[in-house]
Amino acid sequence: LIFDEPSELARQAARQVRTLIEARSAAGDPAVLGLPTGSTPIGVYQELIRMHREEGLDFSNVVTFNIDEYVPMQPDSLQSYHRFMRENFFDHVNIPEGNVHIPRGDLPPEAMEQHAAEYERAIQRAGGLDLLLLGIGRSGHIGFNEPGSTPEDRTRLIVLDEITRKDAASDFFEEKYVPREAITMGVGTILDAREIILMATGEHKAPIVRQAVEEAPNAQVSATYLQMHQNATFYVDRAAASEL
Ligand code: GLP
Repeated sequence: LIFDEPSELARQAARQVRTLIEARSAAGDPAVLGLPTGSTPIGVYQELIRMHREEGLDFSNVVTFNIDEYVPMQPDSLQSYHRFMRENFFDHVNIPEGNVHIPRGDLPPEAMEQHAAEYERAIQRAGGLDLLLLGIGRSGHIGFNEPGSTPEDRTRLIVLDEITRKDAASDFFEEKYVPREAITMGVGTILDAREIILMATGEHKAPIVRQAVEEAPNAQVSATYLQMHQNATFYVDRAAASEL
C-alpha cells in the first residue's frame, strides 16, 4: 500500500490495530501484538494514544511482545527499547504492566540463550502473535535479523551489521558506543505471526524496499522472507516507494 503522507500511513496502521483490539475484546479474548521501535512507528503510537484519550480505545485486553533490544543495554538507559516503549507508548495507554514483554539486554551472556527460549515460550503461551508491526533497517533487517538470517531462526542473540551500527551512531553519540550485539525475534518467529504490517517511510528506505519486494527471498535481505507469508502487507509512503 502506497500512502501520500507518512501521517496517513500511521493512521491506517493504527486503525488495523484498533480493529483487532475491538474484535478480540468483543470475543472476550486478548489481542496479542508484536511491536517495533525506531522512528517509523512513532506516528502509529501517537495515533493509538490519541484513540485511547479521545475515543476511549481500551488496551486492557492487549498483550505485547517487542521484537528486539540491544545487548548489553540497561532498561533505563537513554537508548534502551524498554525506555523507548514506555516513553512513546506504554506510559500513555492502559496496557496492564504484566502484559508487556520486551527482550532483556541486561542479562549476563550465559543467561541469554535461556532468556531467548523463554521469550519464545511466552509468545506461544499467549497464543501467538495476532498482528506484528515492523520497520525495516537499511541492511534489510526486520527486528535485528541481519544478513545471514533464515526462516529457521528463532529469538536469539545476533551480531549487528556495520550499516545498522552506523545508522544508530547518532542515538549513541558516536559509532564506537553502539552495542555490538542485540537480541531479536528470529525470522521464523516473525513469520509465525498471523498478520504482518511492515512500515517504511522516506527516500533513504527506497533501495531496501525495492530489494525486499522485488528480489526473490534470500538471506542477504531478511525482509524478502515476508514474501513467503500469507498475510503480510508493506505500508510505504511515496518516497520509500520511489524505486519500485
Ligand atoms: C532498528 C530496529 C528495527 C527498526 C529499524 C529501523 O534497527 N531494531 O526494528 O525497524 O531500526 O528504524 P527506523 O524506523 O528508525 O528507520
